[in-house]
Amino acid sequence: MCRPRLDEEMVEAAASALRDERIVMGESVFRFEEEFARYIGVRRAVSVSSGTDALILALIALGVKGREVITTPFTFIATANSVVHACGEPRFADVDPMDGNIDPEVVIKAAGGRTAAMMPVHIFGQPARMSELMDIARDKGLMVVEDAAQAHGSQVGGKMVGSIGDLGCFSFYPTKNMNVGGDGGMVTTDDDDLADMVAKLRDCGRTGQYEHDVCGFTSRLNTVNAAIGRVQLRRLDSWNEARRRLARRYIAGLEGVDGLETPAFDARGTMSVFHQFVVRSDRRDALAAHLAERDISTAIHYPLPVHLQPAYSWMGLAEGDFPIAEALSRTSLSLPMCPNITENEVDRIVEAVRGFLDG
Ligand SMILES: Cc1ncc(COP(=O)(O)O)c(C=O)c1O
Repeated sequence: MCRPRLDEEMVEAAASALRDERIVMGESVFRFEEEFARYIGVRRAVSVSSGTDALILALIALGVKGREVITTPFTFIATANSVVHACGEPRFADVDPMDGNIDPEVVIKAAGGRTAAMMPVHIFGQPARMSELMDIARDKGLMVVEDAAQAHGSQVGGKMVGSIGDLGCFSFYPTKNMNVGGDGGMVTTDDDDLADMVAKLRDCGRTGQYEHDVCGFTSRLNTVNAAIGRVQLRRLDSWNEARRRLARRYIAGLEGVDGLETPAFDARGTMSVFHQFVVRSDRRDALAAHLAERDISTAIHYPLPVHLQPAYSWMGLAEGDFPIAEALSRTSLSLPMCPNITENEVDRIVEAVRGFLDG
């Protein structure tokens, strides 16, 4: 149902970059950064080799080493991993059941003397409650890194996500709302010093060809991927609009289904780009099996919240510590969502869901 989005223009852009440009740090890289910064509405965008590296380098640039970063346990594990790799300490705060995003009330309670930053995730493309979170950050002197890996083009009060916190981080992994034909990421900011630091960190900490004043990484975006990304960026708004149209159709079709919760459409002045369309049901696993029998593939984002992942057992956290995130992990089901599914396909899925839950 969801076919990869790499058309002839993207293939041609990649071939021409390979033929005519430097393979590493060619002109397409800088063009892509300028265009992405303009799209998000920030002064600077710095490309990197993945969304995870975007988060890691953003946190290192902020200097969170030895200090806490408040984030959500209801996310892809890379969010928390980036704190660990930046030598910070993840401090989880439970989420708002309405949208699955970090709950500002819980953040207030979690913030203490050792907290350096907060890292809200705009989960499934639905923006977090940024104006409340920014108020808390200013009040408590915290820096804010937006994990916008799933939210290219989402907005809050008319502002693009990734332009609201101190730094925004995007992923171009192939399943995201736009990709670069491989792994890739971007850090966005209005702060020139932070942008310069991230740019230095991604390029071996270079100040000259063989002069380095920080211990950096090899985390550059390849020229070919940047060339593909430039074409994808031009398509992003129309793809997002298609996702929103399909989400509207799902929500209307699924209204009133017994025991099924559908996501809100543009709650609280936000604009979601529906990276995923996630419904909730206590009968989630049986519903998924029923849909699979009808050749409708679904996914679970995410079956285990980060604090219960084996990789985080060292934190000593247990079931019951973040009950809302845990409940969402038990009940969430992602229905097919991408710009190229048809309205007829959505109608067939709606019918199958109704057939099971209303039947
Ligand atoms: C919320 C979130 N954060 C971070 C990442 C990491 O991005 P990447 O896979 O490009 O490293 C992803 C996606 O994979 C994600 O969904």
